[in-house]
Amino acid sequence: MAAEMALVIPTIKCSSSTPKLCDSRATCSFSKFTIVKMTATSQPPKTTNPTKKVSKKAIKETLLAPRFYTTDFDEMETLFNTKINKNLNQAEFEALLQEFKTDYNQTHFVRNKEFKEAADKLQGPLRQIFVEFLERSCTAEFSGFLLYKELGRRLKKTNPVVAEIFSLMSRDEARHAGFLNKGLSDFNLALDLGFLTKARKYTFFKPKFIFYATYLSEKIGYWRYITIYRHLKNNPEYQCYPIFKYFENWCQDENRHGDFFSALMKAQPQFLNDWKAKLWARFFCLSVYVTMYLNDCQRTAFYEGIGLDTKEFDMHVIIETNRTTARIFPAVLDVENPEFKRKLQRMVEINQKLIAIGEAEDIPLVKNLKRIPLITAMASELLAAYLMPPIESGSVDFDEYDPQFVY
Ligand SMILES: [Fe+2]
Ligand SMILES: [Fe+2]
Repeated sequence: MAAEMALVIPTIKCSSSTPKLCDSRATCSFSKFTIVKMTATSQPPKTTNPTKKVSKKAIKETLLAPRFYTTDFDEMETLFNTKINKNLNQAEFEALLQEFKTDYNQTHFVRNKEFKEAADKLQGPLRQIFVEFLERSCTAEFSGFLLYKELGRRLKKTNPVVAEIFSLMSRDEARHAGFLNKGLSDFNLALDLGFLTKARKYTFFKPKFIFYATYLSEKIGYWRYITIYRHLKNNPEYQCYPIFKYFENWCQDENRHGDFFSALMKAQPQFLNDWKAKLWARFFCLSVYVTMYLNDCQRTAFYEGIGLDTKEFDMHVIIETNRTTARIFPAVLDVENPEFKRKLQRMVEINQKLIAIGEAEDIPLVKNLKRIPLITAMASELLAAYLMPPIESGSVDFDEYDPQFVY
């Protein structure tokens, strides 16, 4: 799961009415933190070699940082109760379960000595940007692990088949997060995932929003990974760290996760077949695409470092994700309209000005005053992008729905 979703989503702290992912391990009272030290690097490799000294670093909890999610698990139980919901296609879920049980990538994530050697060769600003890439990716994968693990646990009694699929997806995400964290060890760093579980804020989404957001996260994750993999296969001179060689099989996990959410949404046609669903579908598309675009445009050094043009890469990922999403969402954005890209570009420029204000020496009051017109401009660009004529899509007529066409 790639938690590429943050820009226009309010966050809340866990409340007593919100079943907690963090259960007994967390107090869920961390909303007072505006900056969370994500990277505790508390477990340095055991070594006496001074060159392997572990450096401590932290990541700012920004609006665009990968998030952790929680949901209304009681409502989820109702949605997946076969006695209540007659749309649940248990045969389809059984088939998906068999595929997850096959565990195609069981032996895929095996490291070799190339990793450490490649990491040692990465120096200067590119080294730093690689570390950040690994940290953010690990956090996003771990976010999926936490959510799926809890869904697997909570749905066990109501719908054991769906529950087991969630558990197997959490297995995949744990594997992905672990592999990325091992990558960090090549740079003498480690994400303290236990600390992250307790310390990060959880964003609450109602189940239907979890479906939209997670489906998009999985599919956008698939397109990001496969695009990077294909690019580096064709341009091996940019293959500066071996983790990208694993992306081909890895992204198939994300694709399967997305397909599972597609099946889940088909089982909840009320989330797909009315005007509200169309508005929400467009909203989530916009939020996910803009978040990714703004994030990546702040990290062009990473994409240039592996020989990609950041904006071209992002537009390709957005267009492909949108085409995939159009198979199930009732409406999507017209991202292939050149005006959409122009709007994204204007958002990048506004975001750069906002970042510059944040980094300036002014007192907070002056900073906030300077931010007002920019935030207004950003909101107006977002609204204009949202209101662009959409593309009607999806399988509104469920009777004629052909799963083979979708998959
Ligand atoms: Fe993943
Ligand atoms: Fe995933």
